[in-house]
Amino acid sequence: MAAQFDFDRVIDRRGTSTYKYGALEQAFGRSDLLPLWVADMDFAVSPAIVEAMQSRVADHPIFGYTMPSEAYWQSVIDWQRERNGFAFTRDEVCFIGGIVTGFALVVQHFTRPGDKVVIQQPVYHPFHNVASAAGRQVLNNALVETPDGFYRMDLEGLERIFATERPQLMVVCNPHNPIGIAWEAHTLRQVAHLACKYGVTLFSDEIHGDLMLFGHRHTPLATVSSEAAAVTITMGAPSKTFNIAGLKSSWCVIKNPKLRESFFGWLESNELCAPTILALTATEAAYRHGAPWLEACLRYIEGNIGLVERYCRDHIPGVRPVRPQASFLVWLDCRALGVSHDQLVDVLVNRAHLALNEGAMFGAAGACHARLNVGTPRVILEQALLQLAQAVAT
Ligand SMILES: Cc1ncc(COP(=O)(O)O)c(C=O)c1O
Repeated sequence: MAAQFDFDRVIDRRGTSTYKYGALEQAFGRSDLLPLWVADMDFAVSPAIVEAMQSRVADHPIFGYTMPSEAYWQSVIDWQRERNGFAFTRDEVCFIGGIVTGFALVVQHFTRPGDKVVIQQPVYHPFHNVASAAGRQVLNNALVETPDGFYRMDLEGLERIFATERPQLMVVCNPHNPIGIAWEAHTLRQVAHLACKYGVTLFSDEIHGDLMLFGHRHTPLATVSSEAAAVTITMGAPSKTFNIAGLKSSWCVIKNPKLRESFFGWLESNELCAPTILALTATEAAYRHGAPWLEACLRYIEGNIGLVERYCRDHIPGVRPVRPQASFLVWLDCRALGVSHDQLVDVLVNRAHLALNEGAMFGAAGACHARLNVGTPRVILEQALLQLAQAVAT
């Protein structure tokens, strides 16, 4: 039987206003690179999403002001409850046009200039950039490498920071990009306990939470305890899950009415939570009909990760892929190559002709690491690995 979804199909994305290609020159100084950086996937989306969008565009040629329907909200609510055990009501959720935007709004609303925001590097770089651009002080509770080559949270360090620095806000990247860590409930429970004890609000970015791999499960922070529910602002999205990041569709859930009413009221009065038509159309179709595509996609990604692991073991032993528990990003530990970070970047860009995210952008501990996006057809990944092997060999 032919596969239902064709993840092997190579689609030329150049000339389609694609950031992954369009920003190469600006980010890397050259555009002749195989782009495995920006965190979207090179796969065609679920046909259910395309059909819903086509039908909305072709069958109803009016694109006036819009609002989410009850059916849209129910699709968001059902998806989270059924897949992740995260239960919330219509009143507890609002629309957000992107999670970085959402984080910026949280920073603006819940903190003042000079306030302190805790992040845990290496971590998705916009958390640092957004908070510091807003004049907030960013504190790093660095992740700790474990003897088995993975990472854990430094809970003692976190309590020290909470007790001495008295931050207002902490970002929990759950799952944690760029390493793909699925935080366990007991870790999240301790974070929430400390946050309650020291009066810190938690921003839980769960954008990668539907992309769980190798049998791992996503634990929404707000579900782990009543303390967590009381202090957590959760944002999630179908954008990574279903490869629709360009449509800018996300959601925000806050269980605590005091936090929620002030934030949602502020968003509404400033029209900061207004959706666009196709964001709603695509999201509802994805959550209602996209699960078979997603399951097939996750199995394909696991296959790609297996390929990277085998290839590096056999041909590029100086590069150690850290197996992610979630998402399509693989953290490559390149320290055994024995080159400096700048030399590594030079090898990747100017010799391997690859556009990967250099690890130091996620914090100093990311030096001599790189992030590889494996959400791409296998033939492209094979080509990238070959280019890397050849560059490293010379
Ligand atoms: C952890 C994390 N949060 C947010 C985003 C971006 O979200 P959005 O496109 O909704 O702003 C990304 C994209 O890579 C991400 O990895």
